[in-house]
Amino acid sequence: MGRPLRGVRRVEYAGGGAGGVGGGRLGRGGGKAGRRVALSAYPPTRLSALEGGGEMGRWRTGLNEFDFVLGGGIVPGSVVLIGGEPGIGKSTLLLQCAARLEAAGVSTLYVSGEESPHQLRLRADRLADDAGQVHVLGETRIEAMVAHAETVRARVVIVDSIQTSFTDALEGAPGNVGQVRECAARLMRFAKEAGPAVLLVGHVTKGGGIAGPRTLEHIVDTVLYFEGEASLDHRILRAVKNRFGSVDEIGVFRMTGTGLEPVSDPAAAFLASRVTGVSGSAVTALLEGTRPMLVEVQALATKAGFGTPQRVATGLDHRRLALLLAVLERRGSLPFGNLDVFVNVTGGMRLLEPSTDLAVMAALVSSVHDRPVPADALFLGEVGLGGEIRPVVGVERRLAEASRQGFRRAFLSARSRIVSEGIEVVGMEGIGELARRLAA
Ligand code: TYD
Ligand code: MG
Repeated sequence: MGRPLRGVRRVEYAGGGAGGVGGGRLGRGGGKAGRRVALSAYPPTRLSALEGGGEMGRWRTGLNEFDFVLGGGIVPGSVVLIGGEPGIGKSTLLLQCAARLEAAGVSTLYVSGEESPHQLRLRADRLADDAGQVHVLGETRIEAMVAHAETVRARVVIVDSIQTSFTDALEGAPGNVGQVRECAARLMRFAKEAGPAVLLVGHVTKGGGIAGPRTLEHIVDTVLYFEGEASLDHRILRAVKNRFGSVDEIGVFRMTGTGLEPVSDPAAAFLASRVTGVSGSAVTALLEGTRPMLVEVQALATKAGFGTPQRVATGLDHRRLALLLAVLERRGSLPFGNLDVFVNVTGGMRLLEPSTDLAVMAALVSSVHDRPVPADALFLGEVGLGGEIRPVVGVERRLAEASRQGFRRAFLSARSRIVSEGIEVVGMEGIGELARRLAA
């Protein structure tokens, strides 16, 4: 049965009847005169006749970084897919959400096809949040999950995971493409018709995509990726699609002995353990969604042993590194031909925007000359094949954050015309100038 749109009166159509969302099928025998058409139960309506222009009444979990990435909390009736590698902390995050939602009076059902309720209990015992009131269910059949969710009147249903779920409607083992897609579609219908929010866990493949069909990402409302190095404690939750908030927002957590903790000052989290005064280190400011974040790039260039020199990049595309090395060699007269080069982004962050080129180059130049760059210097700029330094978007926001964290100098493109309070701006045309300044 369709959920009445708030503020809209239900109108019975003369020829209608078969109601519900998606009930608008064409009658059989098309082409015959006077055919009956089953209309949807609710007629078209003007947007202005609907309630609620402002806050959509979201459920906040109180895990600030999680609410932030979603755009202010969980939207009722939405389906959120949370992808990530095994062991990154998806189940932990969702059990904490469930605990907090229960505590806030939003009844929640946690369905696991991966762990038994007893194993969930063991995890719950470790958490700082009290998950005692959460309903748990060990189940893999979608039809049973939906029935149980209705019985306990769950307003948020967590399904861990989509790859272990299956529907009676299809043949085939759980996890195959047809099953995964049909299960997601079934849960989507359940969310839209009955109104609970559904949080789905999805496993990622080696390539980094969510296992199963790519169409899964098109079916659901929101797709979040949970990432990070399992060996480090920082975890990043990234919105790659969001119908109810801005995309590319990230939230930062720390994995502790008692579950995940939202990091209170995410912009500074990745510089916390920086050691200054060492060569081969440069700091840049990323723009993740609306948030500027400071990260450190480290480079080490050392005499190569036998054979082809090595190029190893962590947190950075190795092709980008190859390109930057070629530009440095040709435009900056810095030979790398017989040097092994290692580049690392600290804290498990990944450099996805070209605005970080200049910092990578600064770290490389600093390592080759074995001279530290000034500890209070920030590098911002994209580097072209001609060695030219290009301006980046959102400079003001990045500089403001750097200034707040005590940076006093910013090396950037001479073409970004900017005056910044508290930060001395050093404009440069090309990387020849960078090499000269850092050697001086
Ligand atoms: P888990 O949530 O099971 O990951 P996923 O569901 O993504 O596979 O998290 C597993 C890891 O998190 C595991 O290595 C143990 C660690 N962990 C902690 O460090 N602290 C905790 O409080 C909990 C519950 C787990
Ligand atoms: Mg899990």
